[in-house]
Amino acid sequence: MTEYRVQTRARTTGYPRARRIRFRFGDPEPMAKYFAGGDMVFSHFIAGLSAAFPPGEESFIRSVRRFADQIGDPELKKRVTGFIGQEATHGHHHRQLNEKLAEMGYPIEWYDSPAAIERSKRIEERLPALLHLAATAAAEHYTAVLAERTLAKPEVQALAGDPEVRNLMNWHAFEELEHKSVAFDLYRAMDGTEAMRILTMATLLALTLPLTAVGLTVSLSRDPDARRYPLSLAKEMVTLFRGPIFRGIGRELALYLRPGFHPDDIETTELLERWRAELFGNDGDLVDHLK
Ligand SMILES: [Fe+2]
Ligand SMILES: [Fe+2]
Repeated sequence: MTEYRVQTRARTTGYPRARRIRFRFGDPEPMAKYFAGGDMVFSHFIAGLSAAFPPGEESFIRSVRRFADQIGDPELKKRVTGFIGQEATHGHHHRQLNEKLAEMGYPIEWYDSPAAIERSKRIEERLPALLHLAATAAAEHYTAVLAERTLAKPEVQALAGDPEVRNLMNWHAFEELEHKSVAFDLYRAMDGTEAMRILTMATLLALTLPLTAVGLTVSLSRDPDARRYPLSLAKEMVTLFRGPIFRGIGRELALYLRPGFHPDDIETTELLERWRAELFGNDGDLVDHLK
């Protein structure tokens, strides 16, 4: 482990809370089609990620709500309330960006269509509630790893391109780190087993790369502007998978497979404090976005 400093159980302190915030995409300057610094592949990658968040986060919320009346610990109850508030707000603001991206021609509307949402609800209803929660806890490790990379690596900051998209990603990444252990602690409190936790993550890990690669290829193949530049696309695809988002990510995701793992084993407190000042301190980048 070179990039992660592992600590022994420094508990995340405080309760996550949803911030009342607003974003203005394409205002006053219209967004460029390839808003991520002209990179077609990276722009489609962010568009796909942003499109997947609202329905995904709503599923996370449903998974923790299935246990709402069984939480005895008042502290955990407050953390779960904060988690739900933050995830609901994330979905709301990503939907605003997604509408803009769909207008700009990104083929992303199917992610959040009523049919797709119904399908995922039907699947969830058939899953044992603890397995649904195990999937949320595992997905939260993904978002925490991506959030840590977004906030810790200047190269990732440089990739975002459009300033308001970067603001959205930074705010989302910050709050993901604030609540990174909530679903996990709820899973433990509900007596979820280590075997189910680890197997769920192993399954997700096996699916991630193929699903990301297929999703991205389909998205690009439906973009007539991008299709005109196959060589550039191939180059940008290689750069994406070898770049600061993906390089070494498998190892960081796989930490979750270790028996006894806890999200707070990974030290992110200092990073959070630095970004709290950067985003919400005096003269913070997002102070003027707060309502
Ligand atoms: Fe989120
Ligand atoms: Fe989250």
